[in-house]
Amino acid sequence: MKDGFFPSSDIVVVGAGYVGLVSGACLAHLGNKVHIVDSNAQKIDTLNRGQIPIFEPGLSEIVLESRKKGRLFFHSDLSETLKIQKPGFIFLAVGTPDRPDGSCNTDFLFAAFDGVLDSVSQDTILVVKSTVPVGTSSELNKKLQKKSSPYNIHIINNPEFLKEGHAVEDFLRPERVVLGGNSSEALSAVERLYEPVVRGGAPIFKTDPATAELSKLSANLALASRVSLINQIAQLSDVVGANVRDIEKILKSDSRIGGKYLYAGLGFGGSCFPKDIKNFVTLCKNLEVPSPFAQAVLVQNEIQKKTFLKPILNAFPKPEVTTLAIWGVAFKPNTDDIRESPTLVLIEELTRAGFSVKVHDPKALPSFSEWLNQTPHVPSHKITQCSTKEDALLGAKALVVATEWPEYAQGIELSLKNYFKGTHVFDGKNLYKPKHIRELGFIYRGIGQS
Ligand code: UGA
Repeated sequence: MKDGFFPSSDIVVVGAGYVGLVSGACLAHLGNKVHIVDSNAQKIDTLNRGQIPIFEPGLSEIVLESRKKGRLFFHSDLSETLKIQKPGFIFLAVGTPDRPDGSCNTDFLFAAFDGVLDSVSQDTILVVKSTVPVGTSSELNKKLQKKSSPYNIHIINNPEFLKEGHAVEDFLRPERVVLGGNSSEALSAVERLYEPVVRGGAPIFKTDPATAELSKLSANLALASRVSLINQIAQLSDVVGANVRDIEKILKSDSRIGGKYLYAGLGFGGSCFPKDIKNFVTLCKNLEVPSPFAQAVLVQNEIQKKTFLKPILNAFPKPEVTTLAIWGVAFKPNTDDIRESPTLVLIEELTRAGFSVKVHDPKALPSFSEWLNQTPHVPSHKITQCSTKEDALLGAKALVVATEWPEYAQGIELSLKNYFKGTHVFDGKNLYKPKHIRELGFIYRGIGQS
């Protein structure tokens, strides 16, 4: 990059999915002019009508505000947008789903990269936001050299650490920003973009591309391994009569262990932990690096999702005549995302065993209906979707709580007293005090607190 080159601060974001939309909207909120491009014209129409296709607290407010101020635009034609806007930064935020073998499918990323190189007509910095396997920046750089573009183009890997349901806050008040690249000027240019969000003191780590790429997979592996750790402890607690809620507190009081991601439940889900750990394992396999630890995190998680199956079958040996209420399909609260949600495994197994289920979720039922349509082997005639949590309780013999939505914790006494004629409460998120539910006259089973 030429000395003293300061790229235009105009930004194009390729991909209006979760990461692209949140990142683009936040960058616009910070004062940049941002153009988000997605080849899905229907999604772009929806956004141009002022509707947000995902549920994410705070997102719709900053999208509407930035559009009003003339700083955020949506387009479906990448080539045209690049030619007209001539951005200084192009963020690549397209999906990188996992393949059936666990590897990460980067086809969309490489297609977007080719699309950018075909149309770019000025010096620019390509910021890779998509989660990618280690070595992707190096592959992109090789492609770039082959194309011998007349422009100065630099690639920076900039992993995202956005939690669904908290993504806007995580972008605007990050705990750190990681930038991986080979050009110190390009790294500094991207660093300047992030300056407004790190004024509170969050560090910016500038490093090489492989380190940045691996740091993203490592962060998710570290967090997921804590969840599997506490879930493993919960399994044993159940058998020896220990209380995992107390063990959580005891562990958290040790500053070496730390206080977060030690909450036992039905296992982790979402589009990130499962995919990124599989990606980590596959990378290790391809490079002949043993990965027993990362594999164990996944194995424990699969066991965890099925924790309640045996106890439910033991309590209700005639599934064909038994209806269960299931509260929560989203993989966690504050999102309508059901990808890899442990509830899906639960519903699949329970209905296959013969149970009928009445399912409620405050946000995720539309995604659940879509999933049912795409998953024909799940007996959908055994599934009723309920628009209220109380409706799900009517006629049910047991309540299974699978997502810790706050509304499931509030008013549980009234819900159970007025609508529930069943006998058992299976609390997959340890939302209730066992004693309290037992005092209400129900048989309580939580996670790791037998
Ligand atoms: C995760 C990371 O937390 C983000 O930093 C990262 O950017 C993101 O993946 C990503 O790679 O894009 P997310 O998948 O939105 O974010 O969800 P988390 O809030 O981290 O929860 C993941 C799963 O773990 C959920 O199913 C949650 O219920 C479960 N979990 C989490 C537990 O069971 N126990 C815990 O103590 C914490």
